[in-house]
Amino acid sequence: MNIRKILVTSALPYANGSIHLGHLVEYIQTDIWVRFQKMCLPKEDGHEIYFVCADDTHGTPIMLRAEKEGITPEALIERVHNEHLRDFTGFHIEFDNYYTTHSPETRQYSEDIYTKLKTKDPSLITTHSVEQFYDPVKNIFLPDRFIKGECPKCSAKDQYGDNCEICGAAYAPTDLRNPYSAVSSAALVRKTSEHFFFKLSDNRCVSFLRKWTLEENHLQTEAANKMREWLGEEEENKLFDWDISRDAPYFGFEIPDAPGKYFYVWLDAPIGYMGSFKNLCNQHNINFNEFWNKNSATELYHFIGKDILYFHALFWPAMLENSGYRTPTQIFSHGFLTINGEKMSKSRGTFITAENYLKQGLNPEWLRYYYAAKLNGTMEDVDLSFDDFITRVNSDLVGKYVNIASRAAGFLVKYFHSQIADISGQTCKSFLQEPEPIRDGKTRLVHELLENAAIIRTHMENRRYNLAISEIMALTGKVNEYWDQQKPWDKAKQIDEIQLELALHLVSSITIECFRILTIFLKPILPMLAQKAESFLNVEPMQWEDLWKTLPQGHKIKSYEHLMVRVDRKKIDAMIKASK
Ligand code: MSP
Ligand code: ZN
Repeated sequence: MNIRKILVTSALPYANGSIHLGHLVEYIQTDIWVRFQKMCLPKEDGHEIYFVCADDTHGTPIMLRAEKEGITPEALIERVHNEHLRDFTGFHIEFDNYYTTHSPETRQYSEDIYTKLKTKDPSLITTHSVEQFYDPVKNIFLPDRFIKGECPKCSAKDQYGDNCEICGAAYAPTDLRNPYSAVSSAALVRKTSEHFFFKLSDNRCVSFLRKWTLEENHLQTEAANKMREWLGEEEENKLFDWDISRDAPYFGFEIPDAPGKYFYVWLDAPIGYMGSFKNLCNQHNINFNEFWNKNSATELYHFIGKDILYFHALFWPAMLENSGYRTPTQIFSHGFLTINGEKMSKSRGTFITAENYLKQGLNPEWLRYYYAAKLNGTMEDVDLSFDDFITRVNSDLVGKYVNIASRAAGFLVKYFHSQIADISGQTCKSFLQEPEPIRDGKTRLVHELLENAAIIRTHMENRRYNLAISEIMALTGKVNEYWDQQKPWDKAKQIDEIQLELALHLVSSITIECFRILTIFLKPILPMLAQKAESFLNVEPMQWEDLWKTLPQGHKIKSYEHLMVRVDRKKIDAMIKASK
């Protein structure tokens, strides 16, 4: 058997903001994929699958935010870490490790990678002076987003550093007239300082990246197209050296042998993937090097949003390649969340935090199901329409899937001591009124469900959860149809006749067996619902392989308890109101 070892990451959320429904597109998507892989490749067979993440804790915004709150950056990131972990747990995102970039491990690998790039011959690190806006009151260089001033085109006041909200002009922060600090309101001055650069424009990076992004299969087609744009034609070199240093005061890691100079947050952020994994390895005796060595046979997957593709498909592989580490197997990039067709907005009440969603008593699995029904493995944006959300959850999930269990369980419990009949094909053939054609010792319907397992698996593997859900729901529809055709309630009326009793027992048992199979299909998407279903079915936690087992004759199910309720629109309205 081919033993697989897989390390999966989601992007590291910034430690200065709350997790919102947009973030969750990514974390839910990754969690479903990891759960699916773990179900297909069980640990007991020697496979290893790890899902790590961390908070992205460094940089000026976090430093300023802590200052504003009158606490240390360390206190801020610790509080936010707990909030993030609470929110992820609330949505059943199951990391193997959720760590922080402000860690000894991340520092170690940042210094290591930097030093290796620096000591390359010739060096891939260079320095030159850079002129930037400086806040003379706060004594800090300001990132663009903290710079305000007058629009160079229409002279509107108090515009931010990149575009004018009044006339729409786009410009560089240095074009603003009378620039001032959004932090202290002080007039800004221009000041030069020495910066460190990673020589991305060096041919060792450019030719490697051309091959890595365009010839090897590490990126989705749309992402590769973006790369073609960014890299330019063979003869031209459109890549610039990347500024990786910031001056003190800065919350981050000081650069070795460069007092007062710090690694720019985006230098250590992806290294935080390694840091989090290293921390996990230390706890569980996992071989870090086996996963990160240059010729590693393991797989490394990064799930990210399209806005940070540049960092993950250019800087990150170039850094790894040139410091002697392995590069990612694949980067899975997704689009942005829109709500009711528009960008999330505080004034419309659609900037919804994870916390607010949960606080209103909305079930996290409704959102997991809905996102899965929309995610198609591409970089297209994902729209959350609340009408559609309600329909899909109520009619598909509750109306079709959950309903199967509640219908069939009743008869088994009432007439058959909760016991499953012998549903091997032969028995069905001899006793059902409408003889069931059998194949491979399975009744027709069970067989049909299993026949679709391969295609569902492929869709899940390719992150086309939308297609997997269409298949699963089509099959769910068939199970309901079967139930309606067999009319067990009619059979129940004539329960005293032996033949009919057997037929009723068989139909109910087959239906429960189908429910069991559908539960396995849905389990990566709906882990808690699946857990409740397993308990109702009275079975151990199910893996993908369990598809091909059958509930044995005489197996006792438990009596049915509500698996999931319908979405109540009032709760959604309340959530939107609370988000305004
Ligand atoms: N800290 C960086 C990532 C560093 S990874 C080494 C960052 N943080 S973030 O908090 O802004 O975003 C975290 C992830 O969530 C990113 O992949 C981002 O694309 C994704 N999303 C944030 N808002 C989103 C939406 N509205 N919709 C979909 N995904 C979104 O970027
Ligand atoms: Zn303007």
